[in-house]
Amino acid sequence: MTISGNQSTHERGGLSKAQIVEMLCLRDDEQTALHNKASDIRKTTLTDSVYIRALIEFSNVCCNDCFYCGLRKTNSNIKRFELSPEEILTVVDDASDAGINSIILQAGERRDRKFTSYVSYTLKLIKEKHPRMCVTLAVGEQERGVYEEFFEYGASRYILRIETSNEQHFKKLHPLSQSFKSRVQCLHELRDIGFQIGTGVMVNAPYQTLENLADDIIFFSLLDLELCSLGPYVPHSDTPFGGVEYLPEETLNLGLNMISVLRIAMPDINIASTASLDTLSPDGRELGLVSGANVILPRLSSYAHRSNSILYNDKTDGPLEYGALLKNFEDKIKLLGLIPDMEGAGGGHHYMQKVKNISIK
Ligand code: 5AD
Repeated sequence: MTISGNQSTHERGGLSKAQIVEMLCLRDDEQTALHNKASDIRKTTLTDSVYIRALIEFSNVCCNDCFYCGLRKTNSNIKRFELSPEEILTVVDDASDAGINSIILQAGERRDRKFTSYVSYTLKLIKEKHPRMCVTLAVGEQERGVYEEFFEYGASRYILRIETSNEQHFKKLHPLSQSFKSRVQCLHELRDIGFQIGTGVMVNAPYQTLENLADDIIFFSLLDLELCSLGPYVPHSDTPFGGVEYLPEETLNLGLNMISVLRIAMPDINIASTASLDTLSPDGRELGLVSGANVILPRLSSYAHRSNSILYNDKTDGPLEYGALLKNFEDKIKLLGLIPDMEGAGGGHHYMQKVKNISIK
């Protein structure tokens, strides 16, 4: 599999696979030094701002059967839900009232026309009422024409996690009906269409090796992405991997080190500190920020459905009321000496640099 893209991005990070593996294994003082280095790079390349973006999980219906995910279609232990476009708009109104300028609409994957039209219609409603709201979509693999439609209706960013950059590993995590090549192709199509793209992997997923993770970092660099969302794998009891041996502390350490190594390899991209970190430590997402991440995604989904949205066994819900939830995040960010930023919806630094280079040419 060849990955076209801006090779120089990787060269700029200048890390070999062996160096990446070595850094992933650092613990104790050396690990702290790694995190500090990544934090310094974030500070000098970007700023001390932490972007707060609202994650709106609007449906948990999914046509896939990934072996690790609680939303898999054959899991009959969860109640399926789908917010109506109007209900989604109400959540967006609340996010907007709270000062948030950037949202992520996330759902299980479905490729039927009914679903894709419903997404397009929702985008239309949101953009009519909140023209300046930056909308990121995360609704999985779709036909190119569907991605084009979403783009026309105002989505400007798209997150599609590759889950692993190793095709053999991908096969161990997914049924045969899902293909690694198709996912890579989707990422290329999204970028060609003009989306700012984000991808990511689960860290310490079953069958994953340190070499796989190092390859993931190199894959991200070659793809020249704008956003990376790395989250520790957390088992879900209603999945085939539910009973596999799991080492939470090791997973947390690896997850944090991955964030730091990625920051060193790609200094100016947006890196999310994801909710799955919070399942491994009460201050998991803060640790993610301290390790070099610069984006945080509070879940502003419909509270009525929150317990059905879970992808993994999740114990942390946080305060339920919007204002309290956001205030909580802002306070935590300030305590770290960082600056919460709910308005900075604009392109990431990496994207702006690219646009500048194009317009100068
Ligand atoms: N642990 C951690 N992350 C998970 N995801 C799905 N299941 C799990 C799990 N058990 C992540 C996948 C998916 C994203 C929406 O959630 O990376 O792309």
